[in-house]
Amino acid sequence: MVRRAEDASCPVLVFTVDQHLPGQNSETRFKYVRKDTRSCIECHDPENRLKNKRMFDHANLDTYDGAYRSKMTWEIIGKLRQVTDMKIVLKGIVTHEDAQLCLEHGVDGVIVSNHGGRAQETGLATLSSLPEVVTAIDGKIPVMIDSGFRRGTDIYKALALGATSVGIGRTYLWGLAAFGQKGVERALELLRLELQLAMMSTGARTLKEISRTSIGNSMHHSLLKR
Ligand SMILES: Cc1cc2nc3c(=O)[nH]c(=O)nc-3n(C[C@H](O)[C@H](O)[C@H](O)COP(=O)(O)O)c2cc1C
Repeated sequence: MVRRAEDASCPVLVFTVDQHLPGQNSETRFKYVRKDTRSCIECHDPENRLKNKRMFDHANLDTYDGAYRSKMTWEIIGKLRQVTDMKIVLKGIVTHEDAQLCLEHGVDGVIVSNHGGRAQETGLATLSSLPEVVTAIDGKIPVMIDSGFRRGTDIYKALALGATSVGIGRTYLWGLAAFGQKGVERALELLRLELQLAMMSTGARTLKEISRTSIGNSMHHSLLKR
């Protein structure tokens, strides 16, 4: 899979490191359980779940033994480093200690993420985890963030707390589902507009000018104290 990503000219490999379980015991999960009992085996054959996905065409899945196993170790990151020249970004880093380990293992960037609360929904908001990761990384590699970013003001706060960039998931998917490409464009436009308004209200003329103090020291310190 790594080789295929390289062959497709991907410059960066984003590797999710914290999702070892298929989900959690949440009400949301039960709400979307399938009730239709008709057979869908032609497209959704559980035995051949991956083989039926185009992204796995021609991939050797013989040794693949399931996505959800707690086999992740830091040695795997070292191995990845050896087999590829792509930049390696780890997704799912939310603590100071893990951020330090990322630096020790030569990772090129981190994404502070809880996958939008889809894997674990009772931990800290990623915005609350951000300061300790930013402190540990100390400007050495990019610190990206996602999960729950719904407004430009959310983006503003992340940038003020030291994030290099912000990712969105469902915010654009909802636009896509409702209005196709136009919906995605509108979702992005709204986020940009709200970010601009927030910048105007604090006097930040560029992204670089978004300062920690502009969100109030008490917010910054209360997040750092955790
Ligand atoms: C339908 C769906 C499937 C996802 N699958 C994965 C996945 O396989 N691996 C992963 O790291 N994150 C996955 N994510 C999480 C997203 O990559 C992203 O971190 C998250 O959606 C950001 O939060 P937000 O949706 O609140 O913006 C998925 C998200 C959604 C909505």
